[in-house]
Amino acid sequence: TYEKVWIVASMVLIVGFIATITYGAVGPGIAMIDDDGGDINPDKINDDERFAEPGVEHVGGNEYEVTVVAQAWSYTPSEIEIPANSEVTFYVTSRDVTHSFSVVGTNVNTMVVPGQVSEMTAKFDEPDEYGILCNEYCGEFHHTMEGKLNVV
Ligand code: CUA
Repeated sequence: TYEKVWIVASMVLIVGFIATITYGAVGPGIAMIDDDGGDINPDKINDDERFAEPGVEHVGGNEYEVTVVAQAWSYTPSEIEIPANSEVTFYVTSRDVTHSFSVVGTNVNTMVVPGQVSEMTAKFDEPDEYGILCNEYCGEFHHTMEGKLNVV
């Protein structure tokens, strides 16, 4: 009879549905960072001397280098102070997920990718206070991730 055929067909359908649901749940998933390969290895940042003690360094004349480490959900250092009339090169990296480093009201606005160093230079002529924000969604407290840049 056809009865067996229908039973088998419905079994196949059910198994198919379960497989589809399972794949949807775990298949695409969230890719974990591969600690052993490629450039995407946040641990490498620990070996990068510039990030051993993040902060402001006077490199001569009116030039300053500022190293910053982003990590959910803060920046280290959280407050940066540089003198007016300075040219500042920022080196920013992340220890965990993708963040951004955006100095509000300036052209400093960059993505910060774990295991990579974002670099940008800006001039600060006048004393002022700038907010630093993360524009890249990085989890539950993304909206609290902020810092301060004081030009004195
Ligand atoms: Cu860090 Cu959003």
